[in-house]
Formats: sequence, structure tokens, C-alpha cells
Amino acid sequence: MNAIEVKHLTKLYGPARGIEDVSFTVKKGEIMGFLGPNGSGKTTTMRILTGFFPPSSGSARICGSDIIKDSIEARRKIGYLPESVPLYLDMPVFAYLRFFAEIKGITGKQKKTKADEVMQKCGLTDVSHRIIGRLSKGYRQRVGIAQSLLNDPEVLILDEPTIGLDPKQIIEIRNLIKGLGDNRTVILSTHILPEVSMTCDRVIIIHEGRLIAVDTPTNLMNRVLQAPRVMVKAEGPSEKIVSALVSISGVVSVAKNGFDADGVDLYQIETDENAYVINDIARSIYKNSWKLKEIRPVDMTLEEIFIKLVTEEKGR
Ligand SMILES: Nc1ncnc2c1ncn2[C@@H]1O[C@H](COP(=O)(O)OP(=O)(O)OP(=O)(O)O)[C@@H](O)[C@H]1O
Ligand SMILES: [Mg+2]
Repeated sequence: MNAIEVKHLTKLYGPARGIEDVSFTVKKGEIMGFLGPNGSGKTTTMRILTGFFPPSSGSARICGSDIIKDSIEARRKIGYLPESVPLYLDMPVFAYLRFFAEIKGITGKQKKTKADEVMQKCGLTDVSHRIIGRLSKGYRQRVGIAQSLLNDPEVLILDEPTIGLDPKQIIEIRNLIKGLGDNRTVILSTHILPEVSMTCDRVIIIHEGRLIAVDTPTNLMNRVLQAPRVMVKAEGPSEKIVSALVSISGVVSVAKNGFDADGVDLYQIETDENAYVINDIARSIYKNSWKLKEIRPVDMTLEEIFIKLVTEEKGR
């Protein structure tokens, strides 16, 4: 069964568009990335799924429960980390989580048990008595995620869980999310492109309120693959290197592309779709007695994929 089924969701804010005819499914246990620039409709979609407001039209189901007709049941199955987490900054972590457990209908001894459990899952046990307002941003984000786990949700909806964090905290939160995804379905939104390829099984790309692609990060790469590229690091007279490489059959263009930390020149080479030119490039450098330091194919970045998909869509 699909954990999330979204059919033709549209949300209008007055005459303004929030999202338009958005449909997708998320399988049980999948981590789905929701990727799009500012204002593309990520938060709007998540708010509809969590019952924050109803769609203008369309429908959605969370583990079989309709978000409008069985809204209480649907909400019970969801843990939600909103875009800006409403934390009570003057409360200690444990008290905040017990308080929220109560709000979520957890009573008696279970309040402490559940709070302890989510603190443990999110690496908060050591800071459980610290005041939330004095925690680092990454730890506050963990408190938000811990809060979303209190009701043992089957589905986790995380709106930009790594926003505003430093690189180390981003890695920690990413690992936390991956761990949580082991036995849950997760949708997480981001506009950081490498995030989705590192964390997610599949990616939804949304732009100006409309879905433009739903696929695995790898398939998206294949779909938009441009002429393969090769990176070469070599020592030698750069003009001569460029003209030697560009004369190789199958090479479309050669551009000097700065240098590495040791001052060795880098070259970016575009090749024909079906040409395999790495050997010919290496041979040419070797034959000329230049020093080949490194040679490798270059994958397209998700950033490039994104731009290509958006441009494709506009060209239709
Ligand atoms: N409450 C609102 N009233 C009017 N328009 C809104 C409201 N909330 C969102 N919008 C509009 O709907 C569109 C989608 O916004 P949304 O917040 O869903 O985007 P987002 O992808 O989450 O962006 P961000 O990356 O900046 O968080 C935007 O054009 C936005 O201006
Ligand atoms: Mg948003």
C-alpha cells in the first residue's frame, strides 16, 4: 500500500496560486525529497497533507485515511516538523516534550516514557535539562524533530529540516533522518540540491506550484544527461594542451578550468554522446610528455539537472 496518495491537489490563496494539480504517491518506507526553489509550493503541499488547511480541490490519503473525510485519523498517523518550529524557548527540553506529549493525548506515565524515547532517538538525552533557548540551532531542530515523533507516526513530514544549520549539523540531522526513515515513510522538503541525492530514495521536483518530475536521483541524472564530460588535471603548456585535446575525435570542447591547490591546471572536456575518449586523451598527454595527474568522468550535479528540467518544462 502507498503511505501517501496525492491526487490533483490545488490550493489557491485568493486568486494567487499556491499549488496546481499536484499528484504523486509515496511508498511505505520511502524517503521522498521535495525539491523546489522559494515559493514553489513545498510548504503549501505539506500544510495540506498535515491538515493545517484544506485544499481548494483534489484529495489525499495518509495510510488509507482521507485527509478531509477522516482528518483526525489521518493526522494521528503524521509527525510534522513545520517550517518554523514553535518552540517554547524558556522550557527545558524534557518538559517541553512531556507537555507536547500531553497535547497529543498521551497521558500518565506514558508522557515520560515517550518523551525519554524520542529524546534518545534524536540524541537529546544529554541535554534533556537544558533550556531550549540556550541550545544551538541544530539541537533546537532536533527538539522539533523529537516533538514530531511523539505520537509514533507512520509518516513524517519535515519542512526544511536542515535550514540554517552549519555543515556539521546538516550531516548530523541528515543521518538522524536516514535512521528515522528505516521504519517510517518520510517526506522532506529542501532547496539544497545535494541534500536529496544524499538522503532520499526518490525526488519530487516542484516549480511554480506544479510538479515537473518524480523520479530517483539517478534516473533524473540519466534523463537529463548531457554530453559526457571529462575532468583532466595536467602539467604542461596549457595552450598546447587545449589544442592537442580539442583535435581528438569525439572531443567537442576543451576549456581550462582553473587549477587545484597545488597549482596544477584543470581542464573540462565535453565529449560526444557515444564517444569514449578517456583513453585517447590520456594517450595524447602522454605522447607529448606532459604530466597527467588525474583524469575522470564528471557527473552532472543535481543543480544542473534542476535547471535543465525547469527549462525543458518551460519549452513545452
Ligand atoms: N498564506 C498565504 N497567503 C497567500 N499566498 C501564500 C500564502 N502562503 C503561501 N503563499 C504563496 O503560495 C506560493 C507557494 O508558497 P510556499 O510557501 O508553499 O512555497 P515553498 O516552496 O514552501 O517556499 P520556501 O522555499 O520559500 O519555503 C508562493 O507564491 C507564496 O507566495
Ligand atoms: Mg516553505
